[in-house]
Amino acid sequence: MQKMKLIVAVLWSVFAASGAFDLFGESEKFSDLPSLIPVNFGPNYNHDAVSRSIASWKPGSGRNIWELSGLREGDIMDSADKGRNVIIDPKNNWPNNTMVYRLMSGMTSKEKMVVKEAMELIMQGSCMKFRPYRHGDRDYVYIQYNDTGCWSLVGRQGGAQPVNLQRDACFIPGPVAHELLHAAGFEHQHSAPDRDDYVYINYTNIEEADYDQFEKLSANEYSEMGVGYDYDSLMHYSRSAFSKNGEDTIIPYEDVEIGQQEYVSDKDYRKLNVKYNCFYDADDDSGAHHSEWHHEGTGGSSPHNSEHGNTGHNNGNNHAGGNANGGILTNMFG
Ligand SMILES: *[C@@H]1O[C@H](CO)[C@@H](O)[C@H](O)[C@H]1NC(C)=O
Ligand SMILES: *[C@@H]1O[C@H](CO)[C@@H](O)[C@H](O)[C@H]1NC(C)=O
Ligand SMILES: *[C@@H]1O[C@H](CO)[C@@H](O)[C@H](O)[C@H]1NC(C)=O
Repeated sequence: MQKMKLIVAVLWSVFAASGAFDLFGESEKFSDLPSLIPVNFGPNYNHDAVSRSIASWKPGSGRNIWELSGLREGDIMDSADKGRNVIIDPKNNWPNNTMVYRLMSGMTSKEKMVVKEAMELIMQGSCMKFRPYRHGDRDYVYIQYNDTGCWSLVGRQGGAQPVNLQRDACFIPGPVAHELLHAAGFEHQHSAPDRDDYVYINYTNIEEADYDQFEKLSANEYSEMGVGYDYDSLMHYSRSAFSKNGEDTIIPYEDVEIGQQEYVSDKDYRKLNVKYNCFYDADDDSGAHHSEWHHEGTGGSSPHNSEHGNTGHNNGNNHAGGNANGGILTNMFG
């Protein structure tokens, strides 16, 4: 059994390294263009200014690239019909903890690799899975590369919802994972109702027009999933987010770094797993697997699906890293 797994793993690495995998899945065969849900760029959105500042962003600038996208809290796109959606509402979860995605045609293989890496970052410590669009799928994220910044809506909207990754700028694994976590239902950490216990917002350094970027959400709109505030979150703003003068705007009360955009934090994983009813069975004695993610299929109940109460058995991935490609592998070829 172990030997078999090893062979599969080795074959997969060879296959993956050859670049032969196809993130489009079956969707490439379909010529129909998606009819995207209507989105609302908001009254202050300035297309030229956004695309220019995103294009000229440099790592190490002290700001996260997605903060420059000119939308609510930088990169949160709102639905034109439904307004904003929030983390607390399980009806916006993805059924079977599986986000269905479709890539806008013309994406380069390098760009696809980055999207795949971002998905792997998320899968590494959670039961979240991704699978390519198939004909007939109703709800999915449509990953496009228009020059409008890096942004996403929050949670599953119903229909084809865009995630935008501006070409030559946003295709970096961390920021892509950040946008996908929005689509999975995450808001920004600093908008937590209790954030004032953890960070000081220095309005002296913020343009008044940008005060609303620092609005807190209410306890009805935001949940820490019992895990708590997380300075290390991939969803945390950086220290000088929306600064008008380069001085710090968010000052943690502890001596910690904020605004990292390289990895999904431990608490991010825990929140994702609570949200999607996943638990990690470190000593699964079913014989077939030793430790893996399980999912109790209550998340994603909605008028559109009937998986309510389904007890899925997902080959998610784990921190031990034994099966780092399982989620995509199963979904892309299964
Ligand atoms: C969820 O899983 C069930 C059972 O495997 C399947 O019938 C259903 O189509 C899945 N739903 C989605 C949206 O993938
Ligand atoms: C992105 O660009 C495509 C192709 O130009 C266009 O059809 C689509 O409407 C754009 N999406 C948004 C949200 O602007
Ligand atoms: C807020 O920013 C101003 C201007 O940079 C600075 O003088 C002040 O000390 C800051 N306040 C805190 C609590 O850091």
